[in-house]
Amino acid sequence: MAGLCEGGNEPPGSLKASKHGHSTTTALLKVTEDIRKAMDMGEVTALTLLDFSNAFGSVDIDLLLAKMKTLHLSDNTLSWMDSYLRDRQQCVSLDNQFSQWRCTKAGVPQGSVLGPLLFSIYINDISKNLQYCRYHLYADDLQLYIHSRPNTINESIDKLNCDLATVSTWAANFGLALNSSKTQAIIIGHKRLVNSLNNSNLSVIQERKAQLLGNGNKMQGYSGSEDEVIGKKKRKAFLDLLLEASLGGVKLTDTELREEVDTFMFEGHDTTSAGMCWALYMLGLHPEVQAKAFEEQERVFQGSTRSVTMKDLSEMKYLEQVIKESLRLYPSVPFIGRLLNEDIEIGGYKLPAGCILTLHIYQVHRNPKQFPNPHKFDPDNFLPERIAKRHPYAYVPFSAGPRNCVGQKFALLEEKTVLSYMLRNFKWSSLDKVEDIKLVAELVLRPENGIRLKITKRGDKRL
Ligand code: HEM
Repeated sequence: MAGLCEGGNEPPGSLKASKHGHSTTTALLKVTEDIRKAMDMGEVTALTLLDFSNAFGSVDIDLLLAKMKTLHLSDNTLSWMDSYLRDRQQCVSLDNQFSQWRCTKAGVPQGSVLGPLLFSIYINDISKNLQYCRYHLYADDLQLYIHSRPNTINESIDKLNCDLATVSTWAANFGLALNSSKTQAIIIGHKRLVNSLNNSNLSVIQERKAQLLGNGNKMQGYSGSEDEVIGKKKRKAFLDLLLEASLGGVKLTDTELREEVDTFMFEGHDTTSAGMCWALYMLGLHPEVQAKAFEEQERVFQGSTRSVTMKDLSEMKYLEQVIKESLRLYPSVPFIGRLLNEDIEIGGYKLPAGCILTLHIYQVHRNPKQFPNPHKFDPDNFLPERIAKRHPYAYVPFSAGPRNCVGQKFALLEEKTVLSYMLRNFKWSSLDKVEDIKLVAELVLRPENGIRLKITKRGDKRL
């Protein structure tokens, strides 16, 4: 090992944590110091502690030796390493009982100081794949973290998740698996700051709970205007349903309730706002489509300036086609991933358990076999007769199967409501060409530099 730590052979980047005298504690202290500094500056840190399953035992020896060559070690050190790692004999001891010696074909020595060092070398280039997060690495202890102002914490959580997905794909490609049950995420900051993120939802929950208890555990729901009674069923808000359930058989604490509400708020916010932006952009690029969508609004409202109702929304068929076509070209969630827990065969290829599959919804939606002229914005793609001709999974902006989007109907209603308001009151045109918009997939598909619209109030002749 002398060769590795001699002058001139300083291990690069994160490998420094593995130098003599450094340990997991050193790495943890380093993170703690960074968090403390961030807190002093009023920042919050989102942190993930990753745990690799069978880390030391999964190392591919050839790959490790190839990586060691890139560290410019002397030939002697390399050939010693080669002979040391290949066909190693290993025995395990527990309470002074020793197992038999077994020949090991993979992995690095456990229990010796070399184990952590070699493992660090093996996974060191994880850092090159990170887009947003800082990290600390000591052997198989990896921490990803990101500091942010309290009001942008949700954005940081998205970024952290994005890097986390990259790390798990990277790890799977190198024969390593992340142990999801031990991988933890936490948000650290001054109590006052973190609380301010959650308090508003918590107080809504407490208020609503008090009302519910006051009503003998039955939420009155709504008074029964047209909007609140859909079809024959009287609808209750999601929070009310959760509250009723939690006062019945399934006990949920206020914090658990808040976590459920947070999931809905966060999943439902960025996705729909991105969806609306893309629809506005498309309508601004295609004046003939905007005019047709406006005519539909005129038919529905007959010149009235009243607020929109559920019945009105159900009549906006063309606007729905516009939204669906925008989500086809610009799906708010451009890709999704699945960790295989058993082997499967797809198209003659066997995919082993432990792999992460990524489905590129963006590409699926531009398949010319399913959508002739796939890059053209054409809301008629969602006429019933065209839908009937397509494969049922040719269009999956809300995913499909048991974990699909629970908010998809709500999302369409929300988008319709906002776009209807825009169409009734304004005209607009988009100032940027499709080829000039740079897309970024930060879990949610966004235009890197926003979208520029020129908006004029309806009735104003300037447009
Ligand atoms: C245009 C808007 C939206 C799009 C494109 C969208 C898309 C998606 C997709 C693709 C998934 C599946 C992720 C996966 O398979 O890994 C998903 C899951 C989910 N969505 Fe949405 N979503 C939207 C709006 C909403 C809204 C408004 C809500 C809530 C009010 C919501 C709540 C959820 C929840 C809770 C899940 C997780 C479901 C589960 O894991 O069982 N989404 N969404």
